[in-house]
Amino acid sequence: MPTLESIRLAMTVLPIIIAPDPRLKVKCRPVERVDAQIRRLMDDMLETMYLAPGIGLAAPQIGVNSRIIVVDAAREGEDRQPMRLANPEIVWASPEMIACEEGCLSLPNQYADVTRPAEARIRYIDHDNEIREIQVKGLLSTCIQHEMDHLDGVLFVDHLSNLRRDVILRKLVKARKTQATVGA
Ligand code: NI
Repeated sequence: MPTLESIRLAMTVLPIIIAPDPRLKVKCRPVERVDAQIRRLMDDMLETMYLAPGIGLAAPQIGVNSRIIVVDAAREGEDRQPMRLANPEIVWASPEMIACEEGCLSLPNQYADVTRPAEARIRYIDHDNEIREIQVKGLLSTCIQHEMDHLDGVLFVDHLSNLRRDVILRKLVKARKTQATVGA
């Protein structure tokens, strides 16, 4: 029987694509069926997310053009609460909106307030290929909505004014150039 450690070692940490990048702007394709290969991808995405560390990751951030997201909005000190969602869709959103400070693993060290529905009901396919629905609020709601945006090529900066968005994207381009110089 494999030990927990060997299972962990079998997982793969994937490189995360940093904005601006055209691969983050694509509309992803629905998953036909959550099979062993998709489950493996979901687990690799979770491992990548935990190592980063982050609380959510969408497939296009690792260059996969499929409607898959993973999230874990557990607070520090709580047990992990990994969620694997394929083809997530919002079936209901509260009229109440809430502004939360968001960041993104594809926009390192950049944060801004984004206003979204405070609560939402999400329908998705889970890792056993079962259709599920959950009602979410607070950090989990914000996180799932942020990750779902990625599946349509939308980044959190796209919710800001053009000016704010361009300032953040320019910083990222500059950081990338600096890093390239250091690495050379
Ligand atoms: Ni993100």
